[in-house]
Amino acid sequence: MYHFADSDHARPMKSFVPGPERQREFRDALGRFATGVTVVTTDTPEGPVGITANSFSSVSLDPPIVLWSIGRHSRRFPAFAQCRDFAVHVLGADQLELSRRFACAGEAFAGLDHDRSEAGVPLLKGCLSRFECSRLATHDGGDHAIVVARVVAASFAEGEPLLFAGGGYGRFDRFA
Ligand SMILES: Cc1cc2nc3c(=O)[nH]c(=O)nc-3n(C[C@H](O)[C@H](O)[C@H](O)COP(=O)(O)O)c2cc1C
Repeated sequence: MYHFADSDHARPMKSFVPGPERQREFRDALGRFATGVTVVTTDTPEGPVGITANSFSSVSLDPPIVLWSIGRHSRRFPAFAQCRDFAVHVLGADQLELSRRFACAGEAFAGLDHDRSEAGVPLLKGCLSRFECSRLATHDGGDHAIVVARVVAASFAEGEPLLFAGGGYGRFDRFA
């Protein structure tokens, strides 16, 4: 079934051609890439909306540009596909519950204390860093849309990041 490309190595690799029948393996391969965890928020006429996202990435320092991608199948896609202003919150290791909460649609903001940016974007409290963004472009990314934005304000605090790898959460273990 698999081609063991490097079978005499201590870490044999499974190789495959990604496609509809290899989604599990493709997810497993992508999951080897550890990421941080963010919650992206925006405002809508129906109220504040947020979504857990680990596709966040820095793009440019000057000018300050970041990106993330939103799944087209998400019930929150219309909100994030249309908004101009949004905020990306990088979560700390003590914010696992916030990540779980915003991974579900529903009433994630119910009972959650938050501020508002000048642009009216909901801002969560207690995060490691935060980027207030203004959309520059949206690109096609297959079953996701890639949102590219300029950072108009940023803030950060001290703390340990929440990580996501192999489909699970964890902490950063720095080499001495
Ligand atoms: C750690 C983690 C990272 C995620 N990253 C993304 C992401 O980058 N983009 C995205 O659209 N959904 C991402 N999701 C899934 C969404 O949070 C959400 O569960 C999914 O879009 C279903 O949304 P819905 O209930 O609105 O349909 C992630 C979920 C988890 C737990």
